[in-house]
Amino acid sequence: MDTRQHLVRQLADGRCHSGQALARSLGLSRAAVWKSVRALGEDLGLYIEAVPGKGYRLERPLDLLNSLRILEAVTAEARTRIPALYVLERVDSTSSELLRIAAAGGASGSLCVAEQQTAGRGRRGRPWVSPYGTNLYLSVLWRFAMAPAQLSGLSLACGLAVLRALQDLGARDLGLKWPNDVLHEGRKLAGLLIEMTGEAGGPTQTVIGVGVNTCLPPDSGKEIDQPWTDLERVPGAAGLSRNRLAGRVAARLVETLAAYGSEGLDPWLEEWQRHDLFYGQAVALHQGSQTIHGLHSGIDPSGALRLLVGGRVQAYHAGEISLRPVPDAGP
Ligand code: BTN
Repeated sequence: MDTRQHLVRQLADGRCHSGQALARSLGLSRAAVWKSVRALGEDLGLYIEAVPGKGYRLERPLDLLNSLRILEAVTAEARTRIPALYVLERVDSTSSELLRIAAAGGASGSLCVAEQQTAGRGRRGRPWVSPYGTNLYLSVLWRFAMAPAQLSGLSLACGLAVLRALQDLGARDLGLKWPNDVLHEGRKLAGLLIEMTGEAGGPTQTVIGVGVNTCLPPDSGKEIDQPWTDLERVPGAAGLSRNRLAGRVAARLVETLAAYGSEGLDPWLEEWQRHDLFYGQAVALHQGSQTIHGLHSGIDPSGALRLLVGGRVQAYHAGEISLRPVPDAGP
């Protein structure tokens, strides 16, 4: 652990720590502590208050990631499916890290979480805002014997796995938006990015990346170009431990991934549709520069969105939906 990590851990409790005590425990001069505190603020975007005559204090306590506490929250059965857990301070993207680990022969079921992502990736080429010490950034590597074409419903099953994990921990009033966003009051709480590579006849390598907003600092929220929310605003979920959340999400995901290999989307379809917030509504489906308007008529067994367009139901496999604005009736 380097000086910066030591310092963050000392300050994580949100209490005031004197410069002298920090200098002693870190083996530094008080001037060096001051410099490190400033660098911490600049590097990690943390606000550290210098209280005259008392010391340094973080604006908000941090609930830092800890591998043992994450594994405590993983069921015994799920643990057998996670051969490696990487808990990182800072990485470009937990999914990119797992792609590198996979290329070097990493085992299926490897899990990666990080305190901060410097190049977090969202769907449709969007960035995923990933500030330090808050939210959940988690990815899982999974290899399937089947072909990529047979995995078209995987992203829906994984979205439901994340919703179930949140519900297990007490979160209420959550719903799904095709293909895999978890929403609360029409705002995005969690998103998934699934990256697949494989031969036409299989096997297929997947990296499933999950981002859950636990508590987004206002400055970070300003960078997001769609309505968002975080667990602090969800009934039953405020103050939830990030380690418990990581463990629960990991457990639900690997359970789903293991079952998907043999059962496909079928066992999840009914529950998915029950949580579908847009079913029966007029929606706009955005695919690149194209927008298709239609009535959301459910999900087909392959995970495709069924849209009633011009009197015919058609299945769409990709894109992003939004509610179609009701035309202004005028005065
Ligand atoms: C989306 O746009 O809805 C998908 C967001 C996925 C974000 C997660 S955070 C962990 C993993 N690492 C990434 O770079 N992206 C995913």
